[in-house]
Amino acid sequence: MFLTSDVQILVFRSSVFFKCLVKVNSLILYSLFFILTIMNFKKIVGIDLGTDTIQVYLKGAGIVIDEASIVAFNNRTNRIIAVGTEAKKMMSRTPTHITALHPVAHGILADFDMAKEMIQRLLKNKSLPWSWVTEVVLGVPTNLTEVERKSFEDLVQEAGAGKVYLVEQPLLAALGSGLDIYQPTAYLVVDMGAGTTDMAIVAMNGIVVSRRLKVGGNYLNNEIIKAVREELKLHIGEPTAEEIRIAVASAIPQSERLEITVRGRDVSTGLPKEIIVKDAQVRIWIARSLKFVTESIKDLIEETPAELVGDVYKNGIYMCGGGSLLRGIDSLIEKEIGVSVRVVEDPLRCVARGAGMITDHLEMYHQILNTFSSPGFGGKKG
Ligand SMILES: Nc1ncnc2c1ncn2[C@@H]1O[C@H](COP(=O)(O)OP(=O)(O)OP(=O)(O)O)[C@@H](O)[C@H]1O
Ligand SMILES: [Mg+2]
Repeated sequence: MFLTSDVQILVFRSSVFFKCLVKVNSLILYSLFFILTIMNFKKIVGIDLGTDTIQVYLKGAGIVIDEASIVAFNNRTNRIIAVGTEAKKMMSRTPTHITALHPVAHGILADFDMAKEMIQRLLKNKSLPWSWVTEVVLGVPTNLTEVERKSFEDLVQEAGAGKVYLVEQPLLAALGSGLDIYQPTAYLVVDMGAGTTDMAIVAMNGIVVSRRLKVGGNYLNNEIIKAVREELKLHIGEPTAEEIRIAVASAIPQSERLEITVRGRDVSTGLPKEIIVKDAQVRIWIARSLKFVTESIKDLIEETPAELVGDVYKNGIYMCGGGSLLRGIDSLIEKEIGVSVRVVEDPLRCVARGAGMITDHLEMYHQILNTFSSPGFGGKKG
């Protein structure tokens, strides 16, 4: 009898002990889950949504996504097949039912839905941690209308961001170039991209005057396509034109003579043909477009208040964007304007770096978030 009740007590105690253990374990698991949830509550990213490339900077981590700004979709099923660099591989080589397109043209949204899909997918990319809320600092071109600005905001919000801060790209380019935009001095920043050349006088954390030209790498490609067809009687596509530009193009004569062999379709026979393109030819073909750029810089300086022109002379011109990698572009502008020109380090990532600096110090830069230069004060679209 005594033995039985002892066993009963033992069994009872053990069951209480196990119940407690289960409760403690659940408590630990819940706490862990809570801590992880708090840790992943919010992520802040900076985005440079360009015509050619899209880069994403994750707060505290750096640029974690650098992809082509392209979406490939199936016209029959209306479904997206690929975005980014994977979609780029499909460009110009797709069957008729697949279309690969740039959702951004000349820095402006050309296809809202495709751009939304692209951002949505990139925000879910495995290089970014999962979080409840995503805040985005997005670089936008200067001189946007209220409607254009709103569509950028809607785009990122519909793509899944909880909060969006818009910042004009030349300010981001200046920050990404390492310039102290809070100083009482003026800087002239030229961001030459694929679809646009954005130029602005930046002073005291704002844009004083700005211009946006629809001349960029793509425009130069079109000039090359036209000239190769007219002078060398060969049809080439945009990827070949870009290959020619990157391999041999220059703004002024270089010490090294360059040439490239390219293939295309003979204009008269329609058959495949191979030709050699030389740097001197390409220099002539793109000269007129580069003249637009130098003339616009001159116009911008003419619109700049005299005091600030002195600062520009002293500080020089800062160039960024992929277009600034064109051989001799700095020397050409220096010669035409008479002011020293510096191509910043890693110019392709300059705007994304600037956006990243803001994500890292959101409070410090609150003055430039969602504040826009007035198009009435010198801002012009080219
Ligand atoms: N090594 C290089 N030499 C010359 N041009 C280059 C080189 N590398 C890239 N580019 C050009 O840089 C351009 C892309 O630059 P960038 O990424 O700054 O443009 P984007 O931001 O996408 O365009 P945008 O600012 O106009 O919307 C392309 O036209 C590309 O051909
Ligand atoms: Mg750009």
